[in-house]
Amino acid sequence: MKRLIPIICVTALLVTAAGGCKKDSGTASTSDIIIGHYASLSGAQSDFGVSCNDGAKLAIKQANAKGGVLGKQVKLVVEDTESKTETTTSVVQKLISSDHCNAILGEVASTRSRAGGRICQDKKIPMLSPASTNPEVTRIGDYVFRICFTDDFQGPVAAKFAAAKGWKKVAVLTDSANDYSKGLSKSFKETFPKSGGTIVTEEFYPKDTRDFSTLLNKIKASNPDAVFASGYYSEMILVIPQARQVGLNIPFFGGDGWDSPEILKLGGAADNCYFTNHYSPDDQRPEVLAFIKDYQAEYSKTPDAMAVLGYDAANVMIDAIKRAGSAAPDKIRDALAKTTDFPAVTGKITIDAERNARKPIVIVRIQGNNLKLEQAINPD
Ligand code: PHE
Repeated sequence: MKRLIPIICVTALLVTAAGGCKKDSGTASTSDIIIGHYASLSGAQSDFGVSCNDGAKLAIKQANAKGGVLGKQVKLVVEDTESKTETTTSVVQKLISSDHCNAILGEVASTRSRAGGRICQDKKIPMLSPASTNPEVTRIGDYVFRICFTDDFQGPVAAKFAAAKGWKKVAVLTDSANDYSKGLSKSFKETFPKSGGTIVTEEFYPKDTRDFSTLLNKIKASNPDAVFASGYYSEMILVIPQARQVGLNIPFFGGDGWDSPEILKLGGAADNCYFTNHYSPDDQRPEVLAFIKDYQAEYSKTPDAMAVLGYDAANVMIDAIKRAGSAAPDKIRDALAKTTDFPAVTGKITIDAERNARKPIVIVRIQGNNLKLEQAINPD
């Protein structure tokens, strides 16, 4: 980046002869600090990307209103992954080579964070995922970080919760095209038997499945007490109503990928279903109350977990740039690695040696149009 700035300045001077060091796209000054964000603004998981981006935008707006970072304004350059892995690869390349981002936020979905993370690692641009929980994401290398817990924690919490509920026989439903779903199911299946439970069946569905009735009938025939469904909300809004149609009237439970306003629109079909999550709007901590107030003032709606994580990720990145005292990607990387006890809305964030965050987790219950906090669990 340091090397690029003089080249861009010279080019801009030659082209415009008007002075002022403009970036090639003409949208940002090179005196800005540029944070890229690759997010699913459209496509199957657009709720994830839109909420996450709203959270990140709010954090950056607040930082700029307070005078910016290192005396400069922060510019957020956003690219839409369209909820697709192929698009992810090209937009992350663009953020690095055309937009010259100093650092990058993204993605929510683990499969897409793995695709983007490989490019960021290769180009040595620090990347911070707000929400990708699959353990492999940060194993890509020393430039890839996350601010959320991992599925090695989330799966066992779900398993212990199921055992405590008295569910002895559980069926598992897994998205065979989704790294997050496969990893979370695996971690659940490894721990549930240790709590005395039995996995009666595991059914897999391929990408873009819309009719789940055959799988749901198989699950019904295995006679479970509950179903652990590790996919995203985009599938659950089909799975849960279809389960009720085939007469499978038992609780479904899942992971953070269920979180979306869409899952609260099932008109009672999902009542008494549960999922593990990063945040509950019932939380009364002052950081949570302040954030909900600011978010509502900006967007006139209650933030979901993704909005909070987008906000927290942008704030952790801003904090790292301040501590680095420089917008050079390698310096930001080093500062991110040293993040300690950052007071985020989703809890205190300390980045560990594997570039993950150890964080509290909550279990929420769906009740009509609302989420009720069932339990909060600390990593220790
Ligand atoms: N944890 C999910 C994944 O890794 C993404 C997600 C996080 C979705 C939080 C919703 C809320 O793919």
